[in-house]
Amino acid sequence: MSNLSQLNVQALQWSGHSLKVLDQRLLPDSIAYDDYQDAAGVTDAIASMRVRGAPAIGIAAAYGVVLSAMQHYPNADWQAAVEQDIKQLAASRPTAVNLFWALNKMQQQLVTPSANPIAALTQLAQKIHADDIAANHAMGERGADILGNAKAVLTHCNAGALATGGYGTALGVIRSAHKRGHLQHVYADETRPWLQGARLTVWELAQDGIPATLIADSAAAWLMKSGKIDWIVVGADRITANGDVANKIGTYSLAVLAKQHGVKVMVAAPSSTFDFSLETGDEIEIEERNPKELLADCYLTDGSLVSAWNPVFDVTPAELISAIVTERGIVIDPGKHGVRSLEAC
Ligand code: MRU
Repeated sequence: MSNLSQLNVQALQWSGHSLKVLDQRLLPDSIAYDDYQDAAGVTDAIASMRVRGAPAIGIAAAYGVVLSAMQHYPNADWQAAVEQDIKQLAASRPTAVNLFWALNKMQQQLVTPSANPIAALTQLAQKIHADDIAANHAMGERGADILGNAKAVLTHCNAGALATGGYGTALGVIRSAHKRGHLQHVYADETRPWLQGARLTVWELAQDGIPATLIADSAAAWLMKSGKIDWIVVGADRITANGDVANKIGTYSLAVLAKQHGVKVMVAAPSSTFDFSLETGDEIEIEERNPKELLADCYLTDGSLVSAWNPVFDVTPAELISAIVTERGIVIDPGKHGVRSLEAC
């Protein structure tokens, strides 16, 4: 098996004048890229989930701002046109704060006087991209330290190279722990309805030669009861000041089950995932996607008695989390301390 970098598969590739986005909806059956040359295209790539995962959508949006500047500069009012595109990019998905974090950084650069604004914006987008990869490697090592001799873990959704600049948050921890020789097995939830676990996570793990077993989401309690896993390791879309964590729908149920079974829960996320402007997870907007992702077309008619509710994230209260790992440091038992200690670093 070759690993992802040998396959040269990356969620995002900057060509210098366009953004190539791997269409993750087609994995693992085919590896196909779409080439975007404007912010409207990148907005659509995020909203349609060709690119997904909190850090990856932030990075994509940053490149979207570069494309916008390339399109409008040096026309009169070019900055106003780019600001409009930033608003459009920000409306693509609501929950992952990395999107707004990256757009905010790009917006600050936009209004900073520069002899060559395109070069300055490009450099910043590439820095956001490179910093995310570096953060993942740092978290991988820290998280592997905490896992210690754990032999098997469960992960949910896809928090891997595909969801980030590269290497992954939760899968970064898993990759680092596996390299150390302790971690022998990874269980992955299917992650309905979009199947990030079944289509993306087990594919990534297979490329790296890490033994993985896919389970139906509803098998997680029974897996924990069997004593087969020591930890659950997941990523995050937004972490509030008290340590509450928004992540893929189903994470909250896993954390409740983990408490019952004495399994520990680790959240790995870069500092771009923290939202210190929100005190608790109650304030996070949870994205609800089209009922079509859940329900057969025959029910989706006016007046049907059957409908579908499709929230795609949930919030796990801090007290159910054993450790939050970032590139800046670790918080053990965030339910006791919150995560403000990471803010000033
Ligand atoms: O809807 P998605 O696929 O964008 O959701 C992704 C997740 O929930 C991930 O767990 C999260 O973004 C962390 S990715 C490093």
